[in-house]
Amino acid sequence: MTVPATGPAAPALDPTWWRQAAVYQIYPRSFADANGDGIGDLRGVTSRVPYLSALGVDAVWLSPFYPSALADGGYDVDDPRGVDPRIGTLEDFDAMVAALHGAGIRVVVDIVPNHSSDRHAWFRAALAAGPGSPERERYIFRDGLGEHGELPPADWTSAFGGPAWTRVEDGQWYLHTFATEQPDYNWAHPEVREDFLTTLRFWADRGVDGFRVDVANSLAKDLPEVLPSAAELSAMPKDGTHPLWDRDEVHEIYAEWRRVFDEYDPPRTAVAEAWVDSPERRARYASPEGLGQAFNFDLLVADPEAGAFRRIITANLEQSALSGSSSTWVLSNHDVVRHATRYGLPPLEGRREKQGTAWLAEGGPEEGIDRERGLRLARAATLVELALPGSAYLFQGEELGLHEVAEIPDADRQDPAFFRTTPEDRGFDGVGRDGCRVPLPWTREGSSFGFGEGGAHLPQPAWFGDSSVQAEDGVPGSTLELYREALRLRRELQGAEELTWAAGIDGGDVLAFERPGGWLTVANLGAAGTPLPTGELLLASGPLEAAADGAAVLPAGTTAWIRR
Ligand code: NOJ
Ligand code: CA
Repeated sequence: MTVPATGPAAPALDPTWWRQAAVYQIYPRSFADANGDGIGDLRGVTSRVPYLSALGVDAVWLSPFYPSALADGGYDVDDPRGVDPRIGTLEDFDAMVAALHGAGIRVVVDIVPNHSSDRHAWFRAALAAGPGSPERERYIFRDGLGEHGELPPADWTSAFGGPAWTRVEDGQWYLHTFATEQPDYNWAHPEVREDFLTTLRFWADRGVDGFRVDVANSLAKDLPEVLPSAAELSAMPKDGTHPLWDRDEVHEIYAEWRRVFDEYDPPRTAVAEAWVDSPERRARYASPEGLGQAFNFDLLVADPEAGAFRRIITANLEQSALSGSSSTWVLSNHDVVRHATRYGLPPLEGRREKQGTAWLAEGGPEEGIDRERGLRLARAATLVELALPGSAYLFQGEELGLHEVAEIPDADRQDPAFFRTTPEDRGFDGVGRDGCRVPLPWTREGSSFGFGEGGAHLPQPAWFGDSSVQAEDGVPGSTLELYREALRLRRELQGAEELTWAAGIDGGDVLAFERPGGWLTVANLGAAGTPLPTGELLLASGPLEAAADGAAVLPAGTTAWIRR
């Protein structure tokens, strides 16, 4: 069956659109609120299509908008083929897709296959039907240990902290890799597999162009009768044989999905969220026989240093060439501290994105953070990201140079990572991810800075107005204008997925590479100015300087695009 792209003016039927797309992530509850109830909605997205169009993005990816109790910001899905009534209706969804397609913008939706919510009809049925029932087989239920089954089947910890097994009234326990409200599906069950194919077709038939696949590396599990302990689990290699993570046979699931994607013209696309240990393991998710593309978070966890960026870029371009996919680049998303803030903090040992988490855990003190430097480096890193071959995934608000909001009172917090941990054991998701999910500021002043007429579901700080769309629109040098110009030029300059390091310029703290057609990117990530290479200056992430002899200098923390 071949189904044409739907919608009055679906974007041109180019099957390779995803390879080098600039994709803008919308966290629907925090983007724009059309009906003034404090929660962003689909009509809000539709009302902002002109903004997205002027920004120049190729696609939007919407984080979950499905019915949900919001135990995990919507990643606890009650019904994967519905729209949360607080966010809109299916008709609103169709109108949004039509408006985006009308503006030439593709639509990617989030698919959450590892777990449902505990309010999903199947989970309710599983609870009602009791131990040993076929209804329980769609999830992962076990009897407990101990004389009366009062101990969990294993001592595992969930990704948000706290136990990964929860006991139900009749005494059995179920597995949840994430929050208690997110029971893991049993992917060995044919009905689970079939239902997801139905969901993929449901959205593809409504004109959705692609899917972002949540925790794509956790679906397949192999749980023996006697479960390994947490310590044993963490000692096991993640080489495709681990009982929980990145098992080889997960790719059989995605091969089935691929057959569904290919029923459509152009084929629907997918990008895997798979935090795996090596670029080699990641490439499997990006295979053309599977999901086709996978997020690469290597830049996101790195410091903005030329050496680190150079190694990461080289390794990932090699891997994408091997997998037949294109590379992806991410600096911010809804799970991490915004990069303008991260880059203003002194580095930590180990994974560098923890800088932000550690700072939040201390309450976000002004002492020790250099916000101006952070934003300068964020803008410089963004121009690197947007010049690389492959897709760039941008998170709403980064185009405004927004900083993380640290000042959220405990009483207003929403992230389960906050409630399931103590200050001492807060890990990667740590103090929570609410600070990057605060509703966007559209205007300098007014109710919720133009987000909506009725306040915002997370408190916005007073300084938000200065980073609003209104404050930056048309202002030369603003971060918004930088993104607009960069995205416009990127469309014009983007050619073959090739990159050559610029001999004689690239080296040390200066990262310099050329794309076909003479598009040179020079990023000065060191502490001192460097001579600006000759050529036509197209764009710079910050003001240039002049040497004593008048020659142009690329200051520290600045990137330039040059045509030669
Ligand atoms: C990854 C998502 O990005 C995150 O927001 C969510 O909490 C977990 N998966 C669980 O669905
Ligand atoms: Ca609303």
